[in-house]
Order: sequence, then structure tokens, then C-alpha cells
Amino acid sequence: MKKVVLFLLLSTITHAQKYETLALTPPMGWNSWNRFGCNVDEVLIKKMADAMVESGMKNAGYQYIIIDDCWQGERDSLGFIQADPKRFPSGIKALSDYIHSKGLKFGIYSCAGWKTCGGRPGSRGYEFQDAKKYAEWGIDYLKYDWCYTEGLNAEGAYLTMRNALYAAGRPIVFSLCEWGNNKPWEWAKNIGHLWRTTGDITNCFDCVVDHGSWKSWGVMQILDMQKDLRAYAGPDHWNDPDMLEVGNGMTINEDRAHFSMWCMLSAPLIAGNDLSNMSKETLDILTNIEVINVDQDSLGIQGFKYTEIDSVEIWFKPLKNNNWAVCFLNRSKKMKEVKFSWKEHIVVDSIFNKKADFTKIVYNIRDLWKKQNTGTTEKDFFAIIPSHDVVMLRLSPAKYYLIK
Ligand code: GLA
Repeated sequence: MKKVVLFLLLSTITHAQKYETLALTPPMGWNSWNRFGCNVDEVLIKKMADAMVESGMKNAGYQYIIIDDCWQGERDSLGFIQADPKRFPSGIKALSDYIHSKGLKFGIYSCAGWKTCGGRPGSRGYEFQDAKKYAEWGIDYLKYDWCYTEGLNAEGAYLTMRNALYAAGRPIVFSLCEWGNNKPWEWAKNIGHLWRTTGDITNCFDCVVDHGSWKSWGVMQILDMQKDLRAYAGPDHWNDPDMLEVGNGMTINEDRAHFSMWCMLSAPLIAGNDLSNMSKETLDILTNIEVINVDQDSLGIQGFKYTEIDSVEIWFKPLKNNNWAVCFLNRSKKMKEVKFSWKEHIVVDSIFNKKADFTKIVYNIRDLWKKQNTGTTEKDFFAIIPSHDVVMLRLSPAKYYLIK
């Protein structure tokens, strides 16, 4: 009998895999950490689920409500994890049912180490029990952190949790939060659906915050760290440059630039602001469907920096139907005038084998923030871009197509 059980266990582990096709486009949702930190409870999480529906964010494509660190209480006498009874008196299953009743999906957080970064019980040694609990609770998404992991091998630790999730029998999106320390892009494609590429983001456009033993990074710093990673991302396996800071204190221009660039990167769009109390400008940014469509394009090709002219970076991203997204990003502290003569450029993406040959093909131009059609690539592009802002365009081949 024991042999049979052992065989069954081993065969589950040997044949374990990640649940495929759960994230064919980058996941979209909300996570508690950036705005609320450890200050989470069931009243707050329900309020965010309500707001996600009422604000129109759900209609724009956001679906996961994710509780980050600090929801955990003690393990029970059998070792099963329980929620903090003061903060979640109704329990996680009731909260999960509530979120599902709104047509949303539910995410939770744990850590590969002995403790979470916030000092709560981690999953180390309890992976299969934790995964079983998450499946029972109806969890749809797990963010899995990397604190208190001294001596652990990252690939092995994440593989163990992947196998545990598979054995638990419920499809759960697996989000690796290992900060890029061990280059997860090189090994995590068959383990998870997304992996963090950097340390934590902070709500600052262009700065580094030094916390002593670690640093958090501004939007531009994180953007620069994505260089060279695009080959590794695609449908069901995404680079994750961390959650959004839109609505958390940067200027509207900066929030718009941050959101646009995350869409150019095919980044997961996980809002991190107070959804129940956001300005119209914040909501307009988060729900600009034409910009979101760039992120969610089914080709799943991450954009790249094509060139830079006087502190204005020009990014390109191949889209389906031979469309392209183009983003002019003004990184300078001053307003910039930009001129770009399309017809002098042939933009080549040699990794994904795409080409925009403006010497031969005319494209129609749609301005995605103005929400207007603004001519074709036959004419030079000209714009005045405020400091820390963008102009974002979608190009689609024009009917009359070839330049004579
Ligand atoms: C780490 C992660 C953050 C957040 C905190 C929670 O720093 O990178 O995104 O989950 O832990 O403690």
C-alpha cells in the first residue's frame, strides 16, 4: 500500500508542470502592496473589489484582486496556514467567494522562505500544504516572494511550489517575485506565468530610494533594467517590471508615461492605488482601452527602444495585423520639441523578425492619448512633449500602402 502511495506521489511530481494558457496576455488586476503595505483587512479588500467593478476597471480588463503580504496568521496544529483572525475574521474562503461573486478573480501572496518579507509564516517546508489550502479557498493567482531564503536554490524553490500547485489540482497563475536576482527569465518559462525582473518599484519617476540593505527604484530606473530581456517574454511567460504606481503620487504626466511604457513592455498591469478614491485623471489613465490594447496585443511581443533624440526615447512594439505601437518618451526635466521623419527609417526587430519599412509602406497614425487619427507616416511627425510625458501612437498599414 505504502509503495502505491509513494508511486502516485512520485508520478504526480515527475509529471507536474505549470498550468498552461492561464496568462496568454499579461495579467491585469490590483494588488494591495504599493498603496496599503501591511495594512490589509477583509473590509479593504472587499471595498477594492467593489470599486474595481463600479469604476469601470473590470470592464477595461482588470480581473485579479490580489492581497499581498501580511494577511497570514499562525499555522494550525497540523501546519495549515490560517488568515490573521483579527484582520480577516470571516476567513479567506468567504472573501474568495465574495470576489468571485463580482465576476473577479482572487490572488494571494506567500514566500519561498521561512518567513515572508513582512515577517509572517513563509511556505518553506509547507509548499504542498499551502497549495492545497489555496486550491480549497479558490485562489486563482499566487505571488511568491523571495525573503528569508538563505541557502535556497531559486529555480528549485520555485519548481517545488509549481509542482505543489499542480498537485493541488486548481489552475493558479504563478507569479515569481524573485527580483531578478537569479535571472528567472533564463529558467522560469516552464515554472511560472510571470517573473519580477527587478527590486521594488517606488512612486517616483526618476530616482532611487536607499533603504540601507536594499533599494527601491523609480519608473525610469526600472525601465532601463528591462534592456536585453525582451527575447525571454511572450504569451504565458512575461517579464514583470513590478506593479503600477499610477495614482500614488506622481504627476499626471508621469503616471501617463509610466502606464504607457508598461504597456510598451507587455508588462502585467497590476494597479497599486486606492481604487475607491481615485481622481478622474488616474481612472482615465488606467482605463484607456486603446493603450491597454497595446499591452494586451495577442502577439505578446515586448517593445524596444529604437533610438533617442535629445532625451526623447523612441520605442517601437510590433502588434498583430502588421500594426506597430510607437511611444515618444520625454525623460528630460524640460519640455521637448520632437521631429521624426518616418520616411527616413526602416525599423527592424531582428529577435521577432518584424520590420516597419517606412521608406516603402505608409501607415495611418492614431494618437492613443488624444484618441484621434492624426494623418499618415508620409508626413514628418512633429510634437511638443511636456517633461516626463509621452506621445503614444498606433500605426496601421494604410490601404494605399506602397509609396510610389
Ligand atoms: C517584497 C516584494 C514586494 C512586496 C513585499 C511584501 O519586497 O518585492 O512586491 O510583496 O515584499 O512584503
